[in-house]
Amino acid sequence: MPVFFQMPINDTTRLGVWKIEEPEDYFKGNVPQHRDVTHPHKRVQHLAGRFLLQYLYPDFPYEQIKVADTRKPYLLNEKYHFSISHCGDYAAAIVSSRYRVGIDVEIPHPKVLALRNKFLSDREQQLFDQAGEEGDLQMATTLWSCKEAVFKWYGNGGVDFKKEIQLSPGDAKEETIQCHFTKTGDQLILHPHAFDEVVLAWVVS
Ligand SMILES: CC(C)(COP(=O)(O)OP(=O)(O)OC[C@H]1O[C@@H](n2cnc3c(N)ncnc32)[C@H](O)[C@@H]1OP(=O)(O)O)[C@@H](O)C(=O)NCCC(=O)NCCS
Repeated sequence: MPVFFQMPINDTTRLGVWKIEEPEDYFKGNVPQHRDVTHPHKRVQHLAGRFLLQYLYPDFPYEQIKVADTRKPYLLNEKYHFSISHCGDYAAAIVSSRYRVGIDVEIPHPKVLALRNKFLSDREQQLFDQAGEEGDLQMATTLWSCKEAVFKWYGNGGVDFKKEIQLSPGDAKEETIQCHFTKTGDQLILHPHAFDEVVLAWVVS
């Protein structure tokens, strides 16, 4: 399948989600692999994520991708900022020539409910009451995905999800989520999006 979801975020930022139905060779011919991935499906996910970068911006310079010690991929000259995520048969990417970006895609799984006390503060569980004791899987996954997107936007690792990424409800009409990232003092706006079987969240700032 070609791209499953695509969205121009602003003049300099594009986002795409790919539903992976192609064999590895489809991607392999077009994209360089940037790390050894032994598991075949994980390898296809990795390649599909890279594939999306040039799909979104045809002049994206694959050959200039470096991978930091934190495992964040980046371009030395910062011609583009980009972020990649994959889960199951989905790969997502966001690319911007101007802003720092972060993206995460998740398939809701009950383990996120079991872990919610580790990544959500009491305040967050109250603010998003569906993520609290009763445990709404969709809400908990959305909040997890938002925090992963912030983690990637930051890119330097070493983030305490519960303390340093503080989420609160944002614009009700736009269905955004606000974030106070205490590590840098940034106020960020997260954009969550639910599809049939996946949850997506992105941040641009
Ligand atoms: C790095 C991390 C965000 C990846 O998330 P994941 O759900 O395993 O995998 P995803 O498919 O969403 O993302 C993987 C992609 O993120 C990117 N990535 C990896 N490390 C990154 C980093 N430090 N910063 C930004 N992007 C990163 C890469 O593009 C990678 O894909 P690729 O290697 O194929 O290019 C995750 O493993 C992680 O470390 N999370 C933080 C864990 C944590 O601190 N938890 C505490 C909460 S209790």
